Amino acid sequence: MSRIAYVNGRYVPHRAASVHIEDRGYQFADGIYEVVAVRGGRLIDELPHLDRLDRSLGEMRIAAPMGRAPLRHAMREVIRRNRVENGIVYLQVTRGAAPRDHAFPKSAKPALVITAKRALPKFAQMERGIAVITLPDIRWKRRDIKTVNLTANVLAKQQAVDAGAADAWLVDEAGIVSEATASNAWIVTKKNELITHDPSPQILNGITRLSVLALAEKKGYRFVERAFSLKEAFGAAEAFVTGSTSWVTPVVTIDGKPVGGGKPGPLTKALQKLYADYADAAV
Ligand code: PDD
Repeated sequence: MSRIAYVNGRYVPHRAASVHIEDRGYQFADGIYEVVAVRGGRLIDELPHLDRLDRSLGEMRIAAPMGRAPLRHAMREVIRRNRVENGIVYLQVTRGAAPRDHAFPKSAKPALVITAKRALPKFAQMERGIAVITLPDIRWKRRDIKTVNLTANVLAKQQAVDAGAADAWLVDEAGIVSEATASNAWIVTKKNELITHDPSPQILNGITRLSVLALAEKKGYRFVERAFSLKEAFGAAEAFVTGSTSWVTPVVTIDGKPVGGGKPGPLTKALQKLYADYADAAV
């Protein structure tokens, strides 16, 4: 079966799908994206993802390429045409194609691409936990906007892979852990308190993060949304990351040092199960 992509109003074979060489996403990273997980053919947290897409567009001053109803229809159509039961949908909106000039073009139309692919979360990593290294966070100061400029994230991820780790936790000049390369960072203190960075320009406000917080609240788990330092992370009882592709994945070592017992912790495992059940119940 050949894959199908949605490109600017048309459903086209994935291998032939293309945008113009002067698309501003390509030349300036002048665009934004979303990744939404698909579980049992259903989109997990579709509306919060679309709200964040609108927010990113607003911050970038890019017009919405279409209304929400046709966008939701197109996402479903891409899922259907690719027969994705479990996987992800990727949406990208750029400012469009125009002769290269830093200022916004007067007439460019926002370009919309939607793809879907089959994929499962890495269950082995979710079971065993992952090793992370820490690296300086060299990104720009508006990490709350989900832009396609992932240069620093790509370099950090590859450095982690080269070091034999699964990912990197990015640490700012003050020693604060901002997030991972494509997920949000959490710790559990020795007093059993969940801590994750508060929404701010320092981090992407993860949709998975928000769902996990809501699940924790429902269960009565204690949590605080605040910045935490790498020093605190080294002294934590548990650590994990959350994201649309990683769900809840335990972090068992940081820079080679075991977190807590060096195994996925009990609160992490409880949240992992709650989130998996939540994903299975997605509507
Ligand atoms: N990344 N932080 C960063 C820098 C991210 O890129 C992501 C998601 C997250 C988690 O956000 P969410 O829970 O909404 O997926 C946090 C996606 C999955 C990606 O780039 O593939």
